Amino acid sequence: MPHLRSNKLGLITKGENMEASVDRSGCIGCGLCAEICPEVFKLDEEGLAFAYAKVTPENEDNAIDARDSCPVSVISIDE
Ligand code: F3S
Repeated sequence: MPHLRSNKLGLITKGENMEASVDRSGCIGCGLCAEICPEVFKLDEEGLAFAYAKVTPENEDNAIDARDSCPVSVISIDE
């Protein structure tokens, strides 16, 4: 039975991993996502972000903060 929990948006999640993705065509390389949630986001050698790991229950709040802080809103997280 998955562990039910409520995240900061008030949604009930099942404690399962979620997929994060970056629309790199719009990323301006500000680096906030990798600063806020280095467990999921990194910048590559071109200075553009990509998601290199899944969003887990442990880093979910940071990943959501990163998504919401991106100045060009190119991060999505499957919820
Ligand atoms: Fe790019 Fe947004 Fe991260 S601009 S570096 S995806 S915060």
